[in-house]
Amino acid sequence: MRDFIFENKTKVYFGKDQLHHLHEEISRFGNKVLLVYGGGSIKKIGLYDKVIAQLKEAGAEVFELAGVEPNPRHTTVNKGATICKKEDIDVLLAVGGGSTIDAAKGIAAAAKYDGDDVWDLVTGKGHVTERLPIITVLTIAATGSEMDRGCVISNMETNEKSGFFGESPAVSFLDPTNTFSVSAYQTASGSADIMSHIFDVAYFSKGGCMDMLTRVQEEVLKTVVKYAPIAVKTPDDYEARANLMWAASWALNDFLYDGYFQATVCHAMEHELSAFYDITHGHGLAILTPRWLTYVLDEENAPIIKRFGVNVMGVDESLPLMDGAKAAIDALSAFFFDTLSLKSRLSDLGIDESNFEIMAKKACAPEGVLYGFTNLTPKDVEAIYRMCL
Ligand code: NZQ
Ligand code: ZN
Repeated sequence: MRDFIFENKTKVYFGKDQLHHLHEEISRFGNKVLLVYGGGSIKKIGLYDKVIAQLKEAGAEVFELAGVEPNPRHTTVNKGATICKKEDIDVLLAVGGGSTIDAAKGIAAAAKYDGDDVWDLVTGKGHVTERLPIITVLTIAATGSEMDRGCVISNMETNEKSGFFGESPAVSFLDPTNTFSVSAYQTASGSADIMSHIFDVAYFSKGGCMDMLTRVQEEVLKTVVKYAPIAVKTPDDYEARANLMWAASWALNDFLYDGYFQATVCHAMEHELSAFYDITHGHGLAILTPRWLTYVLDEENAPIIKRFGVNVMGVDESLPLMDGAKAAIDALSAFFFDTLSLKSRLSDLGIDESNFEIMAKKACAPEGVLYGFTNLTPKDVEAIYRMCL
């Protein structure tokens, strides 16, 4: 177990009747607000109007950055930072999913950077010590960006998707009814992302940490296994949406993984897929995870893989170790590809092997090795990509 400091600064308003506090929270940070949102779903569900009413009540002067892309582009972040600098913005209000919130985190930092390109902050060429505060209104359960410090940005000019750690949002509004309109596909992909955060950052990493945390991780995983199929089938099931929403936040808000060796192997492999093919993050993870587990399965890893199968997926405990671990991986595949109906192969997403070699090298950069359960070289990563075809 590693030593750790746990701190999470995000104040969360959870539930269906909390948005009326938004004007109070905005007023705490100032008067000039940059409202950041995506491709229009917030207008379709009437959330935009509710947010604008709150901003009026706060007496705020509102500027807008609309059209943040899924896999948000550094160019969009730069546009937002330019508005912040020109208009002397006090606070960012991100209304949307992980992409919108990550874009806001990039803007919050780039607004305080002397240079004009957020990509400098991603590559480490530039640094900031200050950031604008962020308030979020979350509309999809997936990334945990509403309660973590991660910020993932894409540069499609160079086929790179990478990130940096900023500040976690100051305040987040989590209303499960705002996720009723999320499609079955995005619900399934988001659910795979929640599970992957637990797998990739803690559960399937070297060394473990505390049994208490491993058991809480299993409970969060079980929550997703129970409620994702309900939300896919019955999108306005409040209990299902509420459970997924809170599970997503807790899967990546530091509590569950502080003290672990944080590997994020699957995320490194997936970010290359998104950088080259602009695919949905959670779907890429769903395709990769069972193949990765199959590839790395050995006597040393089998006990925790089997434990996952038994405690989360209902695999028969009496199976011999290796059979139990294989059954766990099969159960996970069946959950992603049969129960949640995600397409199971990269070729289903129009991806072929042409970029595997370069993607594998980039996934293992800068050290040439992805450290995890079993350390992976570019050759290993390439082999895993091929298993996904
Ligand atoms: O753009 P709009 O119109 O809002 O539509 C979005 C988008 O098309 C739609 N959507 C969101 N809420 C909706 C809705 N549609 C209907 N009703 C609603 N209520 O869903 C689509 C996907 O949205 P996006 O924000 O991209 O989804 P997600 O939350 O999965 O975010 C993915 C991004 O977050 C990054 C990913 O790499 C990816 O770029 N990640 C961020 C992390 C972090 N900050 O810590 C960690 C993650 O591992 C991940 O890397
Ligand atoms: Zn993720």
